Amino acid sequence: MSQERITTLLTDSRSYLPPEHGRTSAWICGPEEYDELCRRALEDPSDFWGARASQLIHWFKRWDKVLEADDAHHKYKWFTGAKLNASFNCIDRHLISGRRNKAALIWQGEKETDVRCYTYQMLYTEVCRVAHALSSLHIRKGDHVALYMPMIPELFIAMLACARIGAIHTAIFSGYAEGGVRSRIQGCRARVVITADAAVRSGKIKPLKANLDPILEKCPSVGHVVVVRNAGLENVNMQRKRDTWWHDLMDDFTLNPDFPCEPMDANDTLFLLHTSGSTGKPTGVMHATGGYLTYAAHTTQWCFDMRDDDVYWCTADAGWITGHTYGLYGPLALGATTIMFEGVPTWPYPDRYWRIVENFRVNILYTAPTVIRSLMRMNEAWTERYDLRSLRILGTVGEPINPEAWRWFYEHIGNEELPIVDTWWQTETGGAMIAPIPYATKLKPGSATKPLPGIDAAIIGSAGRDGDEAEEGAKAGHLVIRRPWPGMMQGVYCDEEKYQSYFSRFGCYSSGDAAEVDSDGYFWILGRVDDSINVSGHRLSTAEIEAVLAACPEVGEAAVVPMPHALKGEGIYAYVVTRDEVPWSSSLRVKLRDTVRRDIGALATPEYIQFVEAMPKTTSGKVIRRMLRKIAGDSHEEIGDTTSLANPEALAAIIAGHNNLVAGRHETENAPDEEESSTI
Ligand code: WT7
Repeated sequence: MSQERITTLLTDSRSYLPPEHGRTSAWICGPEEYDELCRRALEDPSDFWGARASQLIHWFKRWDKVLEADDAHHKYKWFTGAKLNASFNCIDRHLISGRRNKAALIWQGEKETDVRCYTYQMLYTEVCRVAHALSSLHIRKGDHVALYMPMIPELFIAMLACARIGAIHTAIFSGYAEGGVRSRIQGCRARVVITADAAVRSGKIKPLKANLDPILEKCPSVGHVVVVRNAGLENVNMQRKRDTWWHDLMDDFTLNPDFPCEPMDANDTLFLLHTSGSTGKPTGVMHATGGYLTYAAHTTQWCFDMRDDDVYWCTADAGWITGHTYGLYGPLALGATTIMFEGVPTWPYPDRYWRIVENFRVNILYTAPTVIRSLMRMNEAWTERYDLRSLRILGTVGEPINPEAWRWFYEHIGNEELPIVDTWWQTETGGAMIAPIPYATKLKPGSATKPLPGIDAAIIGSAGRDGDEAEEGAKAGHLVIRRPWPGMMQGVYCDEEKYQSYFSRFGCYSSGDAAEVDSDGYFWILGRVDDSINVSGHRLSTAEIEAVLAACPEVGEAAVVPMPHALKGEGIYAYVVTRDEVPWSSSLRVKLRDTVRRDIGALATPEYIQFVEAMPKTTSGKVIRRMLRKIAGDSHEEIGDTTSLANPEALAAIIAGHNNLVAGRHETENAPDEEESSTI
């Protein structure tokens, strides 16, 4: 994130009090109650989390201990000895609590007229049949199942079916391309992949099964592929023995409409989800059944003040953690109605969200700042013509929200009265950590406000982006969490060293974000301190993109850095040194750009590729990314001290090259790409 944007965030000093009406019936009614909960939660965490776990989750067997902590190895086991099943909690128990015929899942397809609704009973039957089908493919507790699927009901059904039999699901965002998918499937040695013929995006068909076939040649663990017919593609190549259509599998009349739940230990893994790490290899974050589910239900209830008759819509794709926690597990554990949308906000018109809110009378809308920024560019008439009065709570996640977007959301969608919960968290934290409580927390636009009860967040040391030490006296530092919480990851799959690296620097969980705390105790997130890039609220690894570029025969060296981007928050900027005698050309630029798209996915496409003679390096040969970042962010006057450079003469040429490149932005090779801008 650029310095400039941080400044704007910090200069919006207005604050907004929680609304009065609705307060008395809220889960947490005001600041006093919030303060009291924080005090109690930190004073006796076992009592606090034990009480929440009993209130929110059905346990087949109660725990022996709320928390078994091994501080020396940073291993934390929640609810040890307890038994539960996530699918039972999200479905079965609601069948006998009067919610049998309540809508559990409402699905809005990309096409306006495509709507499917599943009651809890219907969801139960589907999930049982899929669970039975998976187990007839010999999938058992502890086996890995990869889900490479668009936002269709079968995705949630597959997740719950895995949870039912104790298989560990790994969702892979359907916008990922070859390399991204391969490393994730190989990373968890999935035995089954569930996919679809294709995804439908902005009216276009994006094949998934055809993408998958060449990838699977390098994934020997995969014995079965189940394919959902979603886009009606013809000529889908089905490999005999390995591939089955979902509908053929489900058509088996012997499948049982009641299929038993596997009683899971609270510390058995519920799912694996990859996030970008500091190396080219994605980090396989593992979440445990008991702690994760408790934390998902707990934060969904308090952060969104979720009530029993609420219609709740989290717009995130289930390929990301937000879709897991707040699209599926949190709301269904609470017995709410969750909405799933296959399409994008702007196609065919930029009114899709507001139509959905009006059609289904959505009460809670949780989305990303990048979506808000893309919608606020449109004519106001697109919001005005819809009745948004059902909305009660708004939320954002993924990146800091700039005051302009906050104010637009507040005025045009929230009618200047709805609370906006800006929730800070990560794949690793399982659920929201720093976030307002709708009827209890005064809001300051751009701040995720204060830690939730029981979350011991703090700022340690001084840090700016890039791990640079911040200037003296600056309040910015590393955002850390000093005590364990039930939603925290249980480990990194097959990479203990990576897991330990989260704790090694400060002796407690380090988020990798820099943040500041103001005099009211409000947290202001400043961005990552490592080399990841936050594109439209999604964490991408610079190392992963660099590796793809460096693998091209024309490329000698590549360095990827973030740049500020008006819509996406951050964009990707790549510097490339070509190999001897390879000339710089626009066609090479296009080729490199396409390679990244094809290998990782549209989300990772660089905004700019700049050819340079040499990277700025230290005398020991290390690329000085901080300088490249300043240049990409148009802030070369802030480069500062260049005495550590081995090749100071390279810098002027890089700056000049950057200026030329940006001036020529309108070249067709850099034209904005529809698919990219809709990857939300
Ligand atoms: C990174 C985590 C949490 C699910 C979506 C992304 C950034 C997230 C906020 C927020 C400022 C935020 C952080 C964090 N981030 N929420 N409300 N304000 N920054 O999950 O891919 O694991 O990325 O997203 O930098 O570390 P993720």
